Amino acid sequence: MPSRTNGVGVQVEETKICVVMVGLPARGKSFIAQKAQRYLQWLSIRAQVFNVGNYRRNDAPHPTADFFDMNNEEGERKRRVAAESAIADMLAWFRSGGVVGILDATNSTKERRKWVMDTCSSNGIEVLFVESKCDDEDLIMANIRDVKTTSPDYRGQDPEQAASDFRNRIKMYEKVYQTIDEGNGEDEYTYLKLMDVSKQVIINRIQDYLQSRIVYYLMNLHIRPRSIWLSRHGESLYNLDGRIGGDALISSRGEAYARKLPELVRQSVGDDRPLTVWTSTLKRTIATARFLPSHYNQLQWKALDELDSGVCDGLTYQEIKDRYPEDFAARDEDKYNYRYRGGESYRDVVIRLEPVIMELERSEDILIVTHQAVLRCIYAYFMKKDQAKSPWMNVPLHTLIKLTPRAYGTEEERYEAKIPAVSTWRGKGSTAKHENPTPESL
Ligand code: ATP
Ligand code: F6P
Repeated sequence: MPSRTNGVGVQVEETKICVVMVGLPARGKSFIAQKAQRYLQWLSIRAQVFNVGNYRRNDAPHPTADFFDMNNEEGERKRRVAAESAIADMLAWFRSGGVVGILDATNSTKERRKWVMDTCSSNGIEVLFVESKCDDEDLIMANIRDVKTTSPDYRGQDPEQAASDFRNRIKMYEKVYQTIDEGNGEDEYTYLKLMDVSKQVIINRIQDYLQSRIVYYLMNLHIRPRSIWLSRHGESLYNLDGRIGGDALISSRGEAYARKLPELVRQSVGDDRPLTVWTSTLKRTIATARFLPSHYNQLQWKALDELDSGVCDGLTYQEIKDRYPEDFAARDEDKYNYRYRGGESYRDVVIRLEPVIMELERSEDILIVTHQAVLRCIYAYFMKKDQAKSPWMNVPLHTLIKLTPRAYGTEEERYEAKIPAVSTWRGKGSTAKHENPTPESL
């Protein structure tokens, strides 16, 4: 019998990996941990962050810097208890089927790393250390201002005082911090070392496919400010008829949207920096993007083509229900996993979009003109929408969505072109040609 995979070709049946974050405070460890979790969950790989700071807050909710002094016995004890509790919960989670556990703490000494390594190894869990090293004082201060002064550790405190205390906290860690190093006797460990936000990267002893996927993803992350714009194509002739799939042209209202798109983009960008435009290979997205400024680079991706509806391509929902009633019901039952005969499921689309996501992570300002199902999948990645809900999301035509990644999440703005278009949203059980979305689909 072939081994089970998660459908992404990743062999996950026996794999259990603990990603152990390493580094001084304010080096982006939680940022990296959260992104890894979101990426893996989006690929249907069970992943979970265990943040030791959250456990420590149970016992020491508002510690000052001296709590983190290695000579503070009470502080040391409480920190040890917090780390033990996080690991105990992580081990229980692995036993319940977890695949990638992410231990988010400083793990800043060789001794602490050995303890984590030994604990994981004796439980059959592979360890991948991920260290973030950064000596850029301006960036560290910006990180402190952006996320640390608003941390629950400093609730109700003056931001200046909080920043100064956090600087002192970092000094406490600096006294004992040991970078992962071959000279430290850690050359047997599997690790990824990211220096100055991946300007330089060291990879040591990667063991398997899933580890290499995680490493490749993390190497591609950057924190330069940027946005991602998402739009569906202008209303198509198939949209007017309530037909799915196909390669139809856009309607006259779709054409009006294409002409309005450059202005909408300009308004939402706020300055005259150029965007890179990605479309699918289908006529309706290419036609929609054709009036964008000629100095915008344009690229067509096959991976951005609409979900392939196989034998149902070109049919209305009513026709699908009449011809394939069991399929129609099965899709409503589990829309994310249902695969059209000879076509694709949402799960399949996510898998083919993985290189698009990887490229998006590496890139700066990108405008994507694509299709309803594909847009839902990309949106689900950025906005952490769960799989049961994302296929039912309403993504109106003639609307530009701007997503701006922030430290721990993504900000969203919507720009409506105010050019009428039919609704292509369909509620569970319905075969209506054009139906008004319900509030929970928004
Ligand atoms: P702590 O040990 O206090 O929990 P941390 O290392 O987990 O700190 P984060 O809370 O993740 O730090 O810091 C978030 C900030 O780090 C964000 O503003 C983000 O832009 C920035 N950041 C992300 N990646 C990196 C990196 N590789 N190096 C430095 N800063 C980064
Ligand atoms: O100082 C940053 C921090 O995230 C604390 O909130 C947390 O208690 C600590 O790191 C966890 O790491 P360590 O294992 O070094 O105690």
